[in-house]
Parts: sequence; C-alpha cells; structure tokens
Amino acid sequence: MVLRAFPPDREHSFSVAAFATIKRVVRDIANPMYVAQPIEWTDRGVVMLDQRRLPSQEIHHTYTDYREVAKAIRSMVIRGAPAIGVAAAMGAALGVLHSSAKSVQELRPEFTEICDVLAETRPTAVDLFWALDRMKARFVELTAGTSDLEKIKQGMVAEAQLVHLEKKATDEAIGRYGAELMPRDGRVMTQCNAGALATGGIGTALGVIRVAIEQGHKLHILVPETRPYLQGARLTAWELHRGGIPLTLITDNMVGHFLKTGGVGAVVTGADRIAANGDTANKIGTYQIAVLAKENNVPFYIAAPVSTFDLSIPDGDHIPIEQRAASEVTHMQGVSIAPDVHAAHPAFDVTPARYITAIFTERGIARPPYSEALRALANVDRVAAAPSASGR
Ligand code: MRU
Repeated sequence: MVLRAFPPDREHSFSVAAFATIKRVVRDIANPMYVAQPIEWTDRGVVMLDQRRLPSQEIHHTYTDYREVAKAIRSMVIRGAPAIGVAAAMGAALGVLHSSAKSVQELRPEFTEICDVLAETRPTAVDLFWALDRMKARFVELTAGTSDLEKIKQGMVAEAQLVHLEKKATDEAIGRYGAELMPRDGRVMTQCNAGALATGGIGTALGVIRVAIEQGHKLHILVPETRPYLQGARLTAWELHRGGIPLTLITDNMVGHFLKTGGVGAVVTGADRIAANGDTANKIGTYQIAVLAKENNVPFYIAAPVSTFDLSIPDGDHIPIEQRAASEVTHMQGVSIAPDVHAAHPAFDVTPARYITAIFTERGIARPPYSEALRALANVDRVAAAPSASGR
C-alpha cells in the first residue's frame, strides 16, 4: 500500500517546497548570521533578488539591458537608497558594456542617454545620483586616457563593482560606530528596511544592530510593518528572522504605545537624503516615530553613508518627495482593501534635525549642530578608522 501525504497532483509541489526548505535550513546552519544579497554583478549580467516577492518567494532576475535595470529600480525589484545606487552604477556599466558604438564620439551621447534613463527612476534617494555622478566621472577619466572601447567598457564594469564593494565596507564602518550607542540590553526600534536588502552590504540601521549583537549586546528589535509597501513586515522581519536576530513585528499604529511603555532603548533608521542642516528624508512614517521618540526620551538615530548627504540643499523643504501609485495604498498584494476613493502615497517624509540625536556614518558620528558636523564629515576624504570589530 502506498501512503500518500498529499494527492498525487500536489506531491510534486510539496517536494519542491520541501527541497527549498531543506536547502535554506542547511544554508542557515552553515551561515548563522545570514546576509541577503540583493544584487550581484555576474558574467551573465546583473542579478537581482526580486524584493517584491519576499518573503514568500526568493526569485532572481538577470538583466543585460540598462533599461531593464531602470525598470527594476522603478518597480521596486530593488529598493533602499544605497542598493539603488549600486543598481544605477551597474546599469550604467551594462549600458556601456553592451553598446554597439564604434567610437568614443559615438559612445559619449549614448552614455548621457543611459545615465538620464537611470536618473529618472526614483527622485528621493540621493545615492542614485551620487552613483551616476561617480560613473560619469570615471567615464570622463577613461575616455580622456584611451580611445580603446574595450578598455573603457572593462573600466566601467570595474568601477560599478568597486561601488558595490565600497558600500559593503561603508556599512561595516557605520555599524561599528553605531553599535557603540546601542543599549547593552533591551529593545531597539527601526523603520522600513535599512538592511542588507537595502544596501548590498550588511545594511545601515540593521548593520548597526548586527554589529552590536556580534559584540555581545542583547537586543530585541521592534519592527513596524511600514505601510503601505510593508518593507518592515516583508523585508526587515524576513532579514532579521533569517539572521537569527530576535524581533517583534508591530503595526505602524503601535509605535507610540511601544515607545511609551515598551522599554525601547533606541530607534535607528536609515536615510534617503540628508540636507545640509541635518533634516532627513526617510520612509514615510519615520517623522512620527522621531517625534514620539523625543516625547518619550528615546534617542533617535540615523545610520547612513556620507553619499546620502545633499549639502547643496539647505534644509528638508528642498528634498523631492516621491509620490507613488495610490493603488499601493488601496490594494494589498493585489487585493482591494478600500472603496474606489482617492488615496495618497508620499513614499518618504522629512524628519527635522531637532528630533535626531545623532547620525552614524562611515566616517564617524555627527551630532548637532549638524550644519558644521556634516560639512566636516563630507570634507574628510578618506574613511577614518572606525572602532575595531571587537568593540574597541
Ligand atoms: O521605498 P524604499 O523601500 O526604497 O525606501 C527605503 C527607505 O526609506 C530606507 O530606509 C532608506 O532607503 C535607507 S536604506 C539603507
């Protein structure tokens, strides 16, 4: 007699699901502090983990056309300020690599068009523009030194890979600075997803948390779900859970309650753009968390690379706020949750500098007054020695 746990037509999907689970468990045992890889440059093209499908599916796409990379950024296959920057750098390199231009003169206007298409994807995260400026500068350097198209192509690919590598190093340094200010024991709240998925390294806010835990801090993370796109519930909860970091998922309207009663020792979030006076744009909902943190005497920290600074604008009023589709508010995973009414979806808000206790960067910690502190950090032209991984 054959005993079947599932009807024959479901056996195949069961065995595929079971195999995927076993594979994941084996991988997690081998690598207890699992770090997600949202993007990778490979010989086949740029490979991205589709973040729209997490946490239920881990699907990768391989892109060989820069226009596809631009679409992936716009449609949130990849998201998070530093990861968007890495994607834009790789998109620019892909565009040059696959160009059919026969001379530098032909390649030049094509490269301008490639950068313009990538720049028009998402407006708030300044890392996108930082990465494109960096690729433009490298293009100018390379084309000034040679007219050999093969050398120019390889040089651009190397630069994009370097941007990715540097993001990884930057996260580690931010993590080491920030860990010093994490509580030894207790709860830490975050917002959205500022983890490995958002940077391509260990994450900024979640990098701080990771390093603190590696150094022996006993932290428990409060994760607001981050409506409407649910980066907290879908991505941060997934990343922390896979990394073995204890967490509690809460809805966004529980934030005030937990800051008042929940023994929260600190809040740490990422940033999309930091103006010269320290005003900071981050995922919608961050502002209210910062205000409630101040009201309840909980320190509120930003963890972000110096590439997130935009010292060309005096304050947060000048930060462009992306308006996303209303359907992301009226629908959840394709299911309508509201009548057919007008809905708003500003994707980011601006937290005034007065609510920010400190900003962790790869070059050190900025404290108020931010105008001076940020300028000083921006002018340090190399990464200062961050505290050692052991904590001192
Ligand atoms: O719309 P998203 O998911 O790209 O927004 C991401 C955030 O707001 C992050 O907090 C920010 O980019 C910092 S990521 C290290």
